[in-house]
Amino acid sequence: MSGPLGVPVLLSWVCLWLSWQAQGALIISGIPKSLETNGAARLLQKRNADVGTVEVHSFTVDCAVRSRFARTIMTSTAINKGNAAREISFEVELPKTAFIINFSMEIEEQVYVGQVKEKEKAKQQYDKAVSAGKTAGLVKASGRKMEKFSVSVNIASNSKVTFVLTYEELLQRTLGQYEIVIRVKPKEPVQEFKIVSNIFEPQGISYIDAHATFLTNDLLPLVEKTVTDKKAHISFSPTIEQQRKCPDCPGTIIDGDFIIKYDVNREKNLGDIQIANGYFVHFFAPKDLTRLPKNVVFVIDRSGSMSGTKMQQIQEAMIKILEDLHREDHFGIIQFDSSVDSWRNSLSRATEENISEAMAYVKKIVIADRESTDINAAVLKAVDMLVTDREAKRLPEKSIDMIILLTDGNPTSGETRIPLIQENVRNAIGGNMSLYGLGFGNDVDYAFLDVMSRENKGLARRIYTGADAALQLQGFYDEVSSPLLLDVDLRYPDNAVESLTTNHFSQLFKGSEITVAGRLTDNDIDNFLVEVYGQGFEDFSEIGQFSAVDWSVMYPEDDYIFGDFTERLWAYLTIQQLLEKSKTGAADEKANATAKALDMSLQYSFVTPLTSMVVTKPEADDSPMIADKLTEEQRQQAERSGGVSDDILTLTPIVLPDYILTLTPIVLPDYVLTLTPNIVLPDYVLTLTPNIVLQGQGERSEVLSHSRPSTPPNYFVDGDPHFMIELPDKNDALCFNINDKPGTIFNLVRDPVSGILVNGQIIGDKKIPPDGVINTYFYRFGITHWTVGVRLEVNTEFITVYQGGERIKLLWSAPSSLKGPNVDMVLTKDRSLMVTLKDSVKFVILLHKVWEKHPYHRDYLGFYTLDSHLLSPSAHGLLGQFYHGIEYEVSDLRPGEVPGKPDATMFVKGQQLNVTRGWQRDFRNDVKNGENVPCWFIHNNGTGIIDGNASDYIVSGLFKTT
Ligand SMILES: *[C@@H]1O[C@H](CO)[C@@H](O)[C@H](O)[C@H]1NC(C)=O
Ligand SMILES: *[C@@H]1O[C@H](CO)[C@@H](O)[C@H](O)[C@H]1NC(C)=O
Ligand SMILES: *[C@@H]1O[C@H](CO)[C@@H](O)[C@H](O)[C@H]1NC(C)=O
Ligand SMILES: *[C@@H]1O[C@H](CO)[C@@H](O)[C@H](O)[C@H]1NC(C)=O
Repeated sequence: MSGPLGVPVLLSWVCLWLSWQAQGALIISGIPKSLETNGAARLLQKRNADVGTVEVHSFTVDCAVRSRFARTIMTSTAINKGNAAREISFEVELPKTAFIINFSMEIEEQVYVGQVKEKEKAKQQYDKAVSAGKTAGLVKASGRKMEKFSVSVNIASNSKVTFVLTYEELLQRTLGQYEIVIRVKPKEPVQEFKIVSNIFEPQGISYIDAHATFLTNDLLPLVEKTVTDKKAHISFSPTIEQQRKCPDCPGTIIDGDFIIKYDVNREKNLGDIQIANGYFVHFFAPKDLTRLPKNVVFVIDRSGSMSGTKMQQIQEAMIKILEDLHREDHFGIIQFDSSVDSWRNSLSRATEENISEAMAYVKKIVIADRESTDINAAVLKAVDMLVTDREAKRLPEKSIDMIILLTDGNPTSGETRIPLIQENVRNAIGGNMSLYGLGFGNDVDYAFLDVMSRENKGLARRIYTGADAALQLQGFYDEVSSPLLLDVDLRYPDNAVESLTTNHFSQLFKGSEITVAGRLTDNDIDNFLVEVYGQGFEDFSEIGQFSAVDWSVMYPEDDYIFGDFTERLWAYLTIQQLLEKSKTGAADEKANATAKALDMSLQYSFVTPLTSMVVTKPEADDSPMIADKLTEEQRQQAERSGGVSDDILTLTPIVLPDYILTLTPIVLPDYVLTLTPNIVLPDYVLTLTPNIVLQGQGERSEVLSHSRPSTPPNYFVDGDPHFMIELPDKNDALCFNINDKPGTIFNLVRDPVSGILVNGQIIGDKKIPPDGVINTYFYRFGITHWTVGVRLEVNTEFITVYQGGERIKLLWSAPSSLKGPNVDMVLTKDRSLMVTLKDSVKFVILLHKVWEKHPYHRDYLGFYTLDSHLLSPSAHGLLGQFYHGIEYEVSDLRPGEVPGKPDATMFVKGQQLNVTRGWQRDFRNDVKNGENVPCWFIHNNGTGIIDGNASDYIVSGLFKTT
């Protein structure tokens, strides 16, 4: 996790790459309204390159917190400045623990407001839309902690749209703090960008911290923080210039999570009660309690699927967890597949000796070669150990018993019927201990673990496969490792309170907080009697009186206070608890809980798993869109189908002579960046940016490549070698192939004025493919920038940079970033190399890795020009000659040889050519499959469209001009 200097090290390449992929959680962009989707019509569709006509005017986030209850409003305004109607989309992310409460779009003074409806009813509308072939879902899982809300609407020319999304959540105290995560990903700098948070905590704020994953040193001072006793005001509003990645480039550095962490004072042991508008809320988290000893049995799945990294991570986490046990704790270890083994038959006290023996045992856990798990037997064995030790009085009387089960699968051996396992475990535990189910990866039956844990005073957690899995395990263990109280009872006067949320808790852990809310029968209550009891190291018993404070009198001018906050907090908490109850218990209890949760969700306009928000679009023939709340199972489903990922990213920093490695914070929330220090050479400057967050949520490349951004000019060659000339001003593209003998070197770009030369050499298949046609590909590029004396050779194995007598070699297998005075390079492992040559050209070379044992194909490269506007008008070469555009006309469309690929006549450069409508693949966004781009194909090695003949472009060496 640390770089060579002991500091987290990140490379800017990810940043660039991310933005280049144009993925963002707030994307407001113009997407041409799609035309026909099949047949020739599709092929004839012009690619709309009408970029920049949608102006995102503002994006603001306003998060108001009062007593841990947070309401966040995200607002964005965009204008369609183009001369045709365009689809404008709004895409934001919200924490999965939050409920959307409102969404509206204002278009031409008309406001369209989302309606919260019963999910089943909304689904009927939805199903109609689905059967009509339109997908209408607005919410998708995004990483581990967030969900993405996106909507798009057709906006007339010169019209404005304002989107407003509001969500609410109760912040949960974890490991001693509350955390607000605001994810912002505008794709481009925005005129007015603002994040504001006003926090009001009647108990007083003990500390508060705000940072963002994307903040550089320059931007850090822009985070304004004003804290007085009970209030904090935090704002961040960089100007459009400050948002830019660099003065003239289009990207924005605003891309990631803005995170606020704080805690409150806790003076009274009894906690704090707030009464407002007929509701009360009680926060209970006494400080200075002595922790209780715990007796914990770890139950570890060693079945075949845990092999490799998973087991290593569990072993790593277990070593740390064992180290952290307190002397008075007792522990046991069980490992299982279809059979169950325990380290020792009873629990052992956490003495140094026992711990080191246990560590040795854990290190030796061997993965079974079978893929079968007897979860039932393993958990029952753990229960039995605890029960036996309790009965034999081997465990301290005042202590807490818990089982931590770690598995990545489903019960497949022994008892495999889930309801029976749950029943067996419930009966064996008999309410006397807590069971925590940790589900590793996304094959686990999470619902099963969730119910089984909840039924036994515990909870389930997902552990995502990734480099940080060991940390996730430890993090979870930290949350439950210090029990303070058992059987906590919070009591209020019966005659004064109704509709109370849960007021009995099996345990209170250090760093957490218990929250109870309810409705008051008497609005003007003066003396509100509160009693709290719990069993602890010393038994806890406190009684106190509270009275209502009229906040509106105390803070008359205060816009922090949303008047009905206690009621909404109460409703939020009640619904969350009802949703949990709807999963456990008897059938009629479940049904009642579900019905009540539904009623309240509708009454308070919360989008919960039982309700949906229906958004009706202005155009009558558009089907309504539906926003849902995803359940953990649905999220898991999406992960399995590849929609969301929890992959790891491994970055390898390489520091090279003569170059300065500039590190920019990157935003891969929910990922831990594993950095492997390679070579660090002395005498170089490392610029490190603070506030790098090692954990957060993120998406992997497949997700990143979903949305194809609007079409920038693009000239490239890829595949066998197909040349593609996109003409943004014409919304069209031309393409041609050039074939020749393997080994031939072609000139692609040559600009004598700026001193740029790009040549490429082709290679053929390993042997003749079955169809008898040898494909050729580019496998080597030579790039020269004479003016500044830089030369690059890029082949399918490595990249060599020559400058000032020095030679630097980079491997495709190691991601790296290189920033020098004349050349910047960003290498994404085995995928792409982005090169910016000073004052001239920016391009990217894609590496196509072919299966090593492929009978005839080999690895090859694609060359894409990203920015050529600085090249002179004398730029030439197979690609370079098109950088200034080309004039042509197409007429006489007629059926061609292949159905769906019509022929036409093209008038260009004073000649008539027979051309064919077809398509070629652009691999920039999807290096595996590519994306089809419709184009006019010019036959015979591009004869007629290129100046002269293809053979005129053959050169004698990789860095030669002739
Ligand atoms: C939802 O937003 C609209 C438009 O801003 C507003 O008029 C309406 O009162 C809001 N509804 C709720 C339940 O907050
Ligand atoms: C469920 O609701 C019905 C009707 O409100 C009630 O009669 C019944 O007792 C409830 N059942 C439980 C288990 O709460
Ligand atoms: C183009 O195709 C037409 C038939 O479709 C043919 O008559 C004509 O000679 C072709 N022209 C050229 C320049 O190949
Ligand atoms: C062009 O095409 C022909 C036939 O497809 C091929 O034999 C020839 O070598 C190609 N290359 C050049 C540079 O003309």
